[in-house]
Amino acid sequence: MTAAASQVLDRVLVLEMVRVTEAAAIAASTLVGRGDEKAADAAAVEAMREALNSLYMDGTVVIGEGERDEAPMLFIGEKVGSAIGKGPKIDIALDPLEGTTICATAGPNSLAVLAIAEEGGLLNAPDVYMDKIAVGPGYPEGIIDLDKTPTENIMAVAAAKGVPARDLIVCVLDRPRHEKLIAELRSVGCGVMLIGDGDVAGVIATSDPETTVDVYMGSGGAPEGVLACAALRCVGGQFKGRLLFRNDDERGRAAKWGITDLDKQYDLSELAKGDCIFAATGVTDGSLLAGVKRKKGKMTTESVVMRASSGTVRWVKGEHRTD
Ligand code: FBP
Repeated sequence: MTAAASQVLDRVLVLEMVRVTEAAAIAASTLVGRGDEKAADAAAVEAMREALNSLYMDGTVVIGEGERDEAPMLFIGEKVGSAIGKGPKIDIALDPLEGTTICATAGPNSLAVLAIAEEGGLLNAPDVYMDKIAVGPGYPEGIIDLDKTPTENIMAVAAAKGVPARDLIVCVLDRPRHEKLIAELRSVGCGVMLIGDGDVAGVIATSDPETTVDVYMGSGGAPEGVLACAALRCVGGQFKGRLLFRNDDERGRAAKWGITDLDKQYDLSELAKGDCIFAATGVTDGSLLAGVKRKKGKMTTESVVMRASSGTVRWVKGEHRTD
């Protein structure tokens, strides 16, 4: 890493990042439970972009709201920051509102999420699905493998944890495409925690001793996979991901971002490498963070910011005056 980039990650951006996710979460929170996903997402995007543009960096969005022709703001390739062309070069992965449906329906685990790394540190993942498997820290390296069956993975994790498979809880997105996976997991005996949306929180839950989740499995967004990996790099854990392509258009998107091996199984450190920082603020209450709360004259927020190189995890409770 260049000295300039290191210093910026070190001194400036760690806490500044929380201001960015707080801004997005507060903006989205005005639309919690209103049934309008687009409006909530737009509010979060606008607030996050404005906050990002106040940071001293030459930032490039590598994971954002979509490609330039489909996303007016925070599109992939957009330059952000107050020092474009002169400040340290930083790659940014963001999801101003992870769980748009959750927010619109006031469900659990909707987050504003941001990860940064030095240039080239985050995989330019196309907006396609990714097959994912994750476990928390403390397991032997290589214990999970997408080339193994769900049963084989579960048996390996159970043996390493020293418990029978029935003592494991696996978090899976509740989708018809996961019917076979869910049936297999239940036939092995483990418990399946079905979540409606929000697999960034689902993956991170494997690393959080406060949750009961041991393993995350199933397919979800590839951009969300990279964001979750940035967090796991900081708190420990293992992750494997493989991009899933449904048609030639999706394969074409991968080629556009320089991905040639379409069957590759990615390891955590290939999705988020080097030093990186992950920050999130709760929009609605969830397993990781409490959501934005409004009280007389103030709002409260709960955020987390973590850094891979130091392993430091900071929990930040904010009180914001509303007058
Ligand atoms: P959005 O915030 O874009 O709505 O994503 C929510 C989410 O649940 C992600 O956490 C997950 O990776 C993805 O959607 C799964 O996609 P799908 O809803 O198509 O199964």
